[in-house]
Amino acid sequence: MSAYADAIARRFGDGGSSGEGAEDNEFIRRVLSRKTVRRYGDKVPAENLLDLLVAAALSASAKSDFQQASILRLRNTAKRAAIGELFPAMPWIANAPVFFVFLGDARRLQCIGEMRGKPVRNGTLKGFFNASIDAALAIQAMILCAESAGLGTCPISVIRNEVDKVAAILGLPDLVFPVAGLCIGYPQAEGYVSLRLPRLATTHSDQYDDSALAAAIDDYDRRRNARHAIPRDQQRANAAFYGWSEDKARQAAKAEGAAFPPYLRSHGFNFD
Ligand SMILES: Cc1cc2nc3c(=O)[nH]c(=O)nc-3n(C[C@H](O)[C@H](O)[C@H](O)COP(=O)(O)O)c2cc1C
Repeated sequence: MSAYADAIARRFGDGGSSGEGAEDNEFIRRVLSRKTVRRYGDKVPAENLLDLLVAAALSASAKSDFQQASILRLRNTAKRAAIGELFPAMPWIANAPVFFVFLGDARRLQCIGEMRGKPVRNGTLKGFFNASIDAALAIQAMILCAESAGLGTCPISVIRNEVDKVAAILGLPDLVFPVAGLCIGYPQAEGYVSLRLPRLATTHSDQYDDSALAAAIDDYDRRRNARHAIPRDQQRANAAFYGWSEDKARQAAKAEGAAFPPYLRSHGFNFD
């Protein structure tokens, strides 16, 4: 049996490839079993470990070597409380021992253009997209490194729903925007590995083909419901069967984050 079989079965349960014959690798096993953690003990991670995590995050790949991610550590308790109060349904934002905000930073490259007398205009779609990806890669690098150091993490993109207030609290200039916050602490609750969509729905070979999507989603809904059903009090509607796809379709159909596009447009992005 492969070193990964259990972890892959827990993650996908889709009967697909289980890494048979691949050499055992602790890091890969850890990634396969990773999970978001929203409840933390009081112990604050050591400063030198946090510095290391920032260095690891900033070691992520960066589009064109433009290095358009910035990381803001929110230490000020009043500011943290002010952000936490905006999202009472997510108390982990205020309670986590450590809170970072990962920023897409299209400003730095534009400043560098000015410093070198070059006409850099980085409020384009490309500037936004590249900075977003750099920040996303940096946050994922921090997540995986933090988890490998025994910490639990939770990315927080809900801050974009109140971007005007969050940006004011953090003093963000034009062309700098929050991609996500990141709660970090030592896990207090075990949590569970979240079952992912079957790989036949999310992987393609040589040509995109989603002809089996509907059946795959029905199958996934049933398997996921059997493993960890969405608790009644978290369901967005009363239904005889309330599966993942019902929940996600309802969630995605509800307008959320309406403040983000106008914020970006009034803070230096024209998306040309
Ligand atoms: C970009 C991003 C933003 C997220 N934002 C939030 C958030 O605002 N609040 C939250 O509680 N979880 C947030 N999450 C965590 C996801 O809900 C979680 O990753 C997902 O349910 C899958 O669970 P897993 O990471 O344990 O596999 C976010 C995750 C990502 C990648």
